[in-house]
Order: sequence, then structure tokens, then C-alpha cells
Amino acid sequence: MSLSCDLIVRDATIIDGTGAARRRGDVGVSGDRIVAVGDLGAARGQREVMADGRALAPGFIDAHTHDDRAVLCGPECMLCKMSQGVTTVVVGNCGISLSPARMAKRPPPPLDLLGDESWWTFGSFGAYAERLARDPSPVNTYALIGHMSLRVEAMAGDVARAATDKEAEAMRRRLAESLTEGASGFSTGLWYPPNMHAPTDEVIAVAEALRAAGAIYVTHMRDEAAGVLDSIEETLSIGRGTGSPVVISHHKCAMPENYGRSAETLPLIDRAAASGQAVDFDVYPYVAGSTVLMPERVRDDVPTRVSWSVPHPEMAGRMLADIAAEWGLPLKEAAEKLLPAGGIFFQMDENDMRRIMRHPRAMIGSDGLPHDAFPHPRLWGTFPRVLGHYARDLGLFSLEEAVHKMTGRTAAVFGMTDRGVIREGAFADLVLFDPGTVIDTATFEDPATSAAGIVETWVNGQSAYVFGQGATPARAGRLVTRGR
Ligand code: ZN
Ligand code: CU
Repeated sequence: MSLSCDLIVRDATIIDGTGAARRRGDVGVSGDRIVAVGDLGAARGQREVMADGRALAPGFIDAHTHDDRAVLCGPECMLCKMSQGVTTVVVGNCGISLSPARMAKRPPPPLDLLGDESWWTFGSFGAYAERLARDPSPVNTYALIGHMSLRVEAMAGDVARAATDKEAEAMRRRLAESLTEGASGFSTGLWYPPNMHAPTDEVIAVAEALRAAGAIYVTHMRDEAAGVLDSIEETLSIGRGTGSPVVISHHKCAMPENYGRSAETLPLIDRAAASGQAVDFDVYPYVAGSTVLMPERVRDDVPTRVSWSVPHPEMAGRMLADIAAEWGLPLKEAAEKLLPAGGIFFQMDENDMRRIMRHPRAMIGSDGLPHDAFPHPRLWGTFPRVLGHYARDLGLFSLEEAVHKMTGRTAAVFGMTDRGVIREGAFADLVLFDPGTVIDTATFEDPATSAAGIVETWVNGQSAYVFGQGATPARAGRLVTRGR
């Protein structure tokens, strides 16, 4: 009897996510799983897609996102990701998670990146997970719990100081509870003004909850500029102190005076890894970062574009220097007038970024900010940019390696079972794309445009995005939990 499947993608160039060389073949899907890989000549599919040699890869995993709220808003909200081939997003990064935290008023920056108080209604991670189960996202969600979200609650909003032992203990308990409710790890954003008052000891005390759960520690480090080496040492010590694997978020060497220093940071990470410590990092393929606008940190030599402003929404998309000139104000005062606001900061070196991305431990993460009026183009462009610009056009690494950095490697680091690979029995998270034409189209001037060359994206066996048609109504995404 011949095999029958819900879906067969025929004659694809299969890039399986492990880094192995591509091979030509068919992939069969039934329900939410891949059921056959190879020559399925005798099999029949309810639906058959002729790939004609185009690439079929595991759906991409966005290792670093701020999609905590976007995953609750339906298919249109996730179009920016599905149109890149992304099928799973890691939320709760940089110390910012939408749960467990209720806010009576607008949360302090950077928590407001996720929205005003009307969005902060989840008193527990369990409540957030329940909402995701009731009203599913089109993509899979893997969640971290943010230090800052815990701090605001445990310290009653008085966060510009170190937590007391009692407060740290309250945070540790909240984190432990969240991990039993389906969260997978803990994130910090020690660079942000309210959290920079948290000493290493506080972080270790809270992160102690990771040990029993075998959960992961992810960090936007205290300093990505002059003190980047010390910050890596701090991160490694937190990992050792809590027995947990660590992920350094959006690794970079920021500010012109630190350009070139990835030649020091990567060997430091290599040495730790060689000694047996689990340490990895994510990176996005751009030389500009983006976050909330902080007037005390603006610099003349770091061109800055405004991404949103509450009092001056008309300034979104314009350069801060032009706004300052128009207003006849110094840069810092113009920035103050725009608050609360966000910015895009050109503060990295292309060679560092390439060296970091090429490193075998690198995973691709967009760090996209989905609620910005004028977002950094990484929100719409990260994955096709790595595939098209960096792998194909510049030859920075092979297509197989590029895919591995966005799939199999990421799934292994975060402990996502049966995802990130194409093999029998794995979940049918898939993307069909044209390796010859795939490319990002989003730019700093026109940042919200879909990629070219991404043909179709499937999440748990369901078609989620079709080029030229957009997001489908499917909401097949699930909560993905580390090791389960
Ligand atoms: Zn960050
Ligand atoms: Cu981030």
C-alpha cells in the first residue's frame, strides 16, 4: 500500500538544518509532523507542491525577539516574521517579558517597548500561556522571563537600586513558578538604567531558579562597549554560579572606539566553551541597533534615527540630528523633547558583525521591535538578508551553514525538541524559498516590506504564509518549552 500524506513537497533541494550538504528529494507531512523524507514517488499527498529544485528548510527560529505581545495579535501581527520564513520566536528578551507583571500605569522604559499599561495584564506566566493556548499565534512561541518585569513587581516599582535579599528571593520564586508553567529561561537587560543597579549577586540569586529546571540564562549584557570583555566574564560567572547554559544576546562591540574588538570577545567565548561551559550568542545582520531613546546616551558620532515618539509621532523615521537642527536644540535636549521615544543607532562595525556572524556558535536573531512606528529593518529583513546578502552574494558562509544558524543550532541551544531539522518525526515547521532570489527588501528608509524569494511557510504542518497572498488565517503555533 502506498503512503498517503496531507502534504508532499516534491523535488526540493532539502537543506535539513543540521549543516549537512543539501540533497534533492521529497518531504511528506501528515498532521503536525514530517512523516517521510526521500523519494516519495509512490506516495500521494492531499496537497502536492512542486518545488522544482527550490530550497526546503526547517522553519527559521528567531533566537531573539520582543514579540511577547505580537504573538497575541493574530496573523497580521506576525506577517513580518512569517514572510521571512520564521516559524518560532523566542520572546521575553533583554529583561523584558509581558508576564508575570501587571501595570497600573505606563511601565518604565524599556518595558514600554511592549506597549502601554493596557497590555500588561498577565499576573503569571500561566495566564499568558493560557491566553496563547486559547487564542493561538500563527507561529510557535518559546518564552523567557524578564528580570526587569520581575523587578518592577518585587521592588514595587522602586527599581533604581539593588534588590534586597527578600526581594531577590521573591523574584527567584516567581521565576521558578513561571518555569513550571511553561517558560524556558530567564533574561536580563543589565545595560538599561533601572537594571544596571542590579549587582551580579542579585542576578545569581534570582537565576538560581534555573538550576532545578535545567533552564537557560539569556542576557543583554551590562556593557557592549568599552566594558564588553568584563561583561562577558560576568555572564560566564552567572552561568557557572547557577549551573545554567548562557546565551549572549545580540553580540556586538558597540561605539566607534571599540570597533575591531570582536577579535578579543570571540576568543574569550571560545576559551570558556573549550573549558566545557555552555555559552552561545545571537546576532543580527546590521550595523545599527535599536531600542528606547536615552538622551544621556546620545552621541554626535552615532547617527540616530527616531523610530517612535509619543509626543512627536511625526518625527518617526527622521534623523535626530535633523530634528535637533530644526528645533535649534542640542542633540540631548532634542532627544529629551521626544520622550518617551525609540531610536535606531548606527554604532557597529561591519567587519565585527561579519566576524561574529561567521563564528560557529552564532545564531541568527532579529531583535525586531514590532510595535515601533518606524521600525529598524531587521524586523522584516533579518533572515532573508543573511541568506541572500551574506551567504549567497558575499559568500560569508554556505547556505547550509546559514540555515543551520537559524534552525538546528538554535533549537539545540534552546532545547526545542523535534524542531529546527527536517527528518522523519520532526514537527513540520518548514519554509520553501528560492536560494537564487531570496533577499531582504526592508531598508532604513522603507523598513516594513516583505522579503523576496520566500515562497511558503508552514507551522506545525499548516500553511501560514504564501508569497503574494500574505498570512493565511491559520493559527497553528504552540508554546514550545525547553526539553519538552
Ligand atoms: Zn537587548
Ligand atoms: Cu532585545
